[in-house]
Amino acid sequence: MAQTMTQAAGSMFGSWLGNSAPLIERAEGVRLWDVDGKEYIDATSGAIAVISVGHGRQEVVDAMAEQGRKFSYVQGGRFRHEVADELATELARFTPGDLNRAIFVSGGSEANETAIKLARAYQLIKGNLDRHLVLSRERSYHGNTLGALAVSGYDQRRAPYEPLLLNIPKVCEVNYYRDDSGLSYEEYGRVCADDLERAIQEAGPRRVSAFIAEPIVGAAGAATTPPAGYFERIREICDAYDILFIADEVITGLGKTGRNFGIDHWGVAPDIIVTAKGLAGGYAPLGAVLVSERVEQVFKDAEQPFMHGYTYMSHPVSCAAGLAVLRIIEREGLIQNAAERGGLLFEQLEHLKAEHPLIGDIRGKGLLAGIELVRDRDTKEPLDPELGVSLRLVQAALDHGITVYPCQTGPGHSDQFLVSPPLVSTPDDIEEIVNRLSLALDDVEEGLRAS
Ligand SMILES: Cc1ncc(COP(=O)(O)O)c(C=O)c1O
Repeated sequence: MAQTMTQAAGSMFGSWLGNSAPLIERAEGVRLWDVDGKEYIDATSGAIAVISVGHGRQEVVDAMAEQGRKFSYVQGGRFRHEVADELATELARFTPGDLNRAIFVSGGSEANETAIKLARAYQLIKGNLDRHLVLSRERSYHGNTLGALAVSGYDQRRAPYEPLLLNIPKVCEVNYYRDDSGLSYEEYGRVCADDLERAIQEAGPRRVSAFIAEPIVGAAGAATTPPAGYFERIREICDAYDILFIADEVITGLGKTGRNFGIDHWGVAPDIIVTAKGLAGGYAPLGAVLVSERVEQVFKDAEQPFMHGYTYMSHPVSCAAGLAVLRIIEREGLIQNAAERGGLLFEQLEHLKAEHPLIGDIRGKGLLAGIELVRDRDTKEPLDPELGVSLRLVQAALDHGITVYPCQTGPGHSDQFLVSPPLVSTPDDIEEIVNRLSLALDDVEEGLRAS
């Protein structure tokens, strides 16, 4: 008997939970259609920042097929291939400073694991035998593998696995909306950056290998953004303590914020940039660890390899997808597009705020916008977590044909979500997204009044 769609879905682990998510049939540009023909605007670019050049780009699919026909896999380390070399060279034109070396993996978590181990290996070669701790911030997300989760400040995702995670001191988050010190934004940023020094002292300066941070926070904090001066000070502190600075640009890399990398807004060069998601635009799993030549030189001088590896490193078909995506980003000026469309997005969201009392704060840059919802805009009192407003909004948004991404919620956290349209979005797409979001917020507000 032929297997139906429903039976096929029933073979997926977790299907007893009765997942009612729409079954997607096709996608093009910034839009998806389900099997019933309902249209959705992919206003989150998949999982926040995956879809960069849009769905259905034949050029990317052709590049992958061509590579697959030549060869689809060779063992990294044993063999080299042109497509990875070329992607590394092309990426170096986008990176700040001397971050001209690349390691390719399958996604953001793997890339962060690699960066954590690279920092440790670098310190070992330099004779800093005790240096192994990677400091990070409260309210941060670096991935769901155990090492990446250990450095993440994401309560819900950590909680079940807490006994498996290293407990490492955390640096304070940068959330000016929730600050009541009366400091200016810049002064507040300086205090937050200096908290890295406090955490280094707490951990023991000789035990710290690196500091990792998202230039603009994603799922953990709905686009909280530090002021000018923050990452400049972070760089100074890392240099003073001989600690590597890792910028986690899994979301903010390759144009999302209207600059090549999010950290470019601060004019700072990290030692390592980790990027993934939009790198291959959702066509193939791909992450990259972009490493400074200065760091590489330490390994070269010691004639030591980096003891690390995965089977699917530098996967040729994924690298071919990445290369094709990068060429489209450059040819179509999509980073500039993200900056311009982002300006329109934030302008429209401010209008939305005037109409919806639930909106407390709007933040972010380019096409990465975070919205925090509150019970009372004047007091900034959060909504009762029991009301599950974020999830209500996700459903209402789907009903009106757009996606929104719910962020860290629950006790101690406000309801907040991300809107993050693909780099190829047009002005009409942005207006349609904000219109549909307005309808979804209407529904949620009505539901709250009724409950
Ligand atoms: C900033 C950041 N780092 C790392 C990750 C993990 O990436 P992946 O889900 O590809 O493993 C994510 C995923 O959302 C992320 O947002």
